[in-house]
Amino acid sequence: MTYREPARTAARRTRAPASWSFATAPGMGLTVYGCEPDEAALFRQLAPRFGVAPTLVEDAVSEANVALVAGNRCISVGHKTRITERTLLALGQAGVQYVSTRSVGCNHIDVEYAKSVGISVGNVAYSPDSVADYTLMLMLMAVRNAQSTLRRTDAHDYRLNEERGKELRDLTVGTVGTGRIGAAVMDRLRGFGCRILAHDIRPGTNAEYVPLGELVRQSDLVTLHTPLNAETHHLLDRRRIDTMKPGAYVINTGRGALIDTEALASALESGALGGAALDVLEGEDGIFYADRRDAPIESELLLRLRKLPNVLITPHTAYYTDHALADMVESSIVNCLDFESRKQHWI
Ligand code: COI
Repeated sequence: MTYREPARTAARRTRAPASWSFATAPGMGLTVYGCEPDEAALFRQLAPRFGVAPTLVEDAVSEANVALVAGNRCISVGHKTRITERTLLALGQAGVQYVSTRSVGCNHIDVEYAKSVGISVGNVAYSPDSVADYTLMLMLMAVRNAQSTLRRTDAHDYRLNEERGKELRDLTVGTVGTGRIGAAVMDRLRGFGCRILAHDIRPGTNAEYVPLGELVRQSDLVTLHTPLNAETHHLLDRRRIDTMKPGAYVINTGRGALIDTEALASALESGALGGAALDVLEGEDGIFYADRRDAPIESELLLRLRKLPNVLITPHTAYYTDHALADMVESSIVNCLDFESRKQHWI
């Protein structure tokens, strides 16, 4: 159901009901799917400044709620749910021409299929510092054995860890993917004085670029910042993991399927690798972002990784800062306005 929410009701409301959607004041129409309460607050605050009237829908877009596009040509979607081909087809039939995903990665949407049903897909740009800061935190936690120290401290075991930490200055860090986020990670690393290697299909100039195999062989720590697509799926596969330095670390704030997680788990279990810090995990859909405290863990891989004291797992949260979230909402609105204005030029 779509309903207009009176301003005073909105002001009084402290928590959104379990599933909700509502339209706001008149302006360019934009249906926003998968809209979390914190994003909804930002859309309400920012959209009027751009003359946009968003219809905010908590549920992810699906065939069941395509009617809520209500004639809007642009929709904004979250990244948490894959958009099926049937939903894309239904969106195309409902007149949607532009989908703005509130994420950098587009791997939850088949962009080629969308194009075939008349829909362009655009991603957002948000503060790369959100993910870059978090990546540095994970790197430092990994090389200082923070996971194991915190677990012991939680259990009132205050002895020094058996493993000594390492200093970034003494390490070679390989950055795979040097777009906005990878570049921001390298900027930070320069301050730590480590040797930095880089790999990207479009090499830049401001780093020591090497082929991927060489980067993997030479790095004490490999950090992944490349988009997930057919070419990068299992970019760190068993063969490459086997060539990593003994005791090396893997940091992933990109996408889980960049790594063959089964091969990674085996290398960690055997002690071949020194540790991993993973903010993204293959098969995270349906696990991350849910309260699973009372649910059994069904993922064998997650169970294996959780047993290891040198593996740190966080639930795809590196991007989640107030700055990045506001950027994300604003960028999604601006993308849709740009699309509409280009459309008007064509007409
Ligand atoms: C992306 O922007 O692609 C991310 O991974 C963050 C997303 C969860 C909003």
